[in-house]
Amino acid sequence: MVVEGSYRASTYNLEWEREIQRLKAQVNLSWAKEARNLQRFGLADGMNVLEAGSGPGFFTEKLLELLPNSSIAALEIDTALQEKAVEYLQDKGGDRINYVRASVTDTGLNDNTFDFAIARLLFVHLPEPVAAAREILRVLKPGGKLTIVDNDADLFWLTNPPQSVEIVREKFKQVIASRGGDLCVGRKLCRILKEAGFVSIDLEAVVCHSDLMGIEAFAPLLDSGPILQMVKQGLISESEIESYLVSREAFLAEKDRAMMSFWLMACGEKH
Ligand SMILES: C[S@@+](CC[C@H](N)C(=O)[O-])C[C@H]1O[C@@H](n2cnc3c(N)ncnc32)[C@H](O)[C@@H]1O
Repeated sequence: MVVEGSYRASTYNLEWEREIQRLKAQVNLSWAKEARNLQRFGLADGMNVLEAGSGPGFFTEKLLELLPNSSIAALEIDTALQEKAVEYLQDKGGDRINYVRASVTDTGLNDNTFDFAIARLLFVHLPEPVAAAREILRVLKPGGKLTIVDNDADLFWLTNPPQSVEIVREKFKQVIASRGGDLCVGRKLCRILKEAGFVSIDLEAVVCHSDLMGIEAFAPLLDSGPILQMVKQGLISESEIESYLVSREAFLAEKDRAMMSFWLMACGEKH
């Protein structure tokens, strides 16, 4: 199945394995707080759960641990990522995992099947986010919920000392938009849910700070690989990223450097 939208794991970073490790560290960074919000939104053990855009399985692993009596449908469009998940989770989920290879906009799953659905860092990459949310609405049971976890470009790179990221941020927005994604999706999540037909919409932020977790935990958010990859692909010039690279070096050299991250979590219910 052809990957739609703005994310392709095989070309997003300089190397495939580096991208896999970035995704893994990104799950570990904020999982504890995301789990807290998911439970507050109503996720509970024993539920039949859909994870859309499940990637290499690191978030699936956390769900399996949190919900020891739940079944999880791990829906993924990218064959290589799904194979990675099957390998990674082979001793972890047994028959509690159902791998589905499909697009979130056309899942092929039955109506009214799931108690809870989660889409993490997926909607940012979708050309038709409302259609995707409608498809998830269809497969949820009445009273079932969808939580979308995503970010927003203007909440990236909150570092002290600050880095010079304005040009890179704008270029990133343009490149992702040209591939059908939307790096400013975070601020639009509530409307996407509403337009798709969800009710009782709620929104939380997950905030992580290096003063509390240590700066090493933030390494995935500081990975320059995706930016250097855009240079390699001719989408941004070396001169345009020069001030970013200089400020990044200065930031990394600063002993007392600090970083903060925001994920947004929007939840809606099927009437
Ligand atoms: C940035 S990754 C996030 C992976 C995982 N959810 C996580 O939080 O680590 C986005 C994932 O969504 C998948 N994806 C992109 N478009 C999709 C679509 N239309 N349907 C299903 N999955 C899709 C990608 O292949 C990738 O695995």
